[in-house]
Amino acid sequence: MSCSQPVGILDSGFGGLSVARAVRRELPSENIIYACDCGFAPWGDQTDDFINARTDAVVDFLVQAHVKAIVIACNTATAVCAARLRGKFRFPIVGIEPALLPAARITRTKTVGVLATTKTLRSSKYQHLRSRIPDDITVIDRPCPGLMDCVEAGEFRTPKTAELVSRFVRPLTAAGADTLVLGCTHYPFLMQAISDAAGPGVTLIDPAPAVARELRRRLEQASLLSMSDRAGTEEFYATGRTKAREAVLRTLWTPKAELREL
Ligand code: DGL
Repeated sequence: MSCSQPVGILDSGFGGLSVARAVRRELPSENIIYACDCGFAPWGDQTDDFINARTDAVVDFLVQAHVKAIVIACNTATAVCAARLRGKFRFPIVGIEPALLPAARITRTKTVGVLATTKTLRSSKYQHLRSRIPDDITVIDRPCPGLMDCVEAGEFRTPKTAELVSRFVRPLTAAGADTLVLGCTHYPFLMQAISDAAGPGVTLIDPAPAVARELRRRLEQASLLSMSDRAGTEEFYATGRTKAREAVLRTLWTPKAELREL
């Protein structure tokens, strides 16, 4: 491995771009290869076998692209595959999980809502995380099927999206939650809709900046941080009709970003 190699970032779809933008801010000179599986997404309601197989397909692509580290910018894939992948590869693999511990520290009402995929919330990894939360804190899990699809379709502020978001969020705030954990990397792109539904005084937690800092630490430890003084580059790859999806990528990243076939 050498420090001039790119960092790979993966997700089922465009949600991982919320992590990629935090990585870009934290590590401006790293080259990034973003690879996702739009053609087979969502992963969040699928079986472990399916998620393992699709994650492996994207990881294989990144390995062939000679990445020096991988960020699994997907809570679902981290819950299902991270431990196995860490046993298989020697380069740094950074995952993401719902930011339940920080939420438990800041809630004043002692009630936290977690928005995530069905798979993440059912995983043993998440159940273990939940068991570490002090007993006086109430955690309300809310699976949100359909929400990632709004992001994939570029529907951030449509009435349909607002309606769906409000159906998921309102019961949490009605139950007293003053802190909501965005436990799926797609949801930060719905921040405005979620915040509108939650109302004033509710804090939303996006763990992406913490993931970017963890990537920096891991690269430093492995002496793999980029030494370049130039701005890093980004390449984007996806499965499934990439030309049709490019417009959404351009809304989420920059107007000239190109989406290539994975
Ligand atoms: N963005 C993903 C996550 O963080 C998964 C969305 C999906 O494919 O269902 O869990």
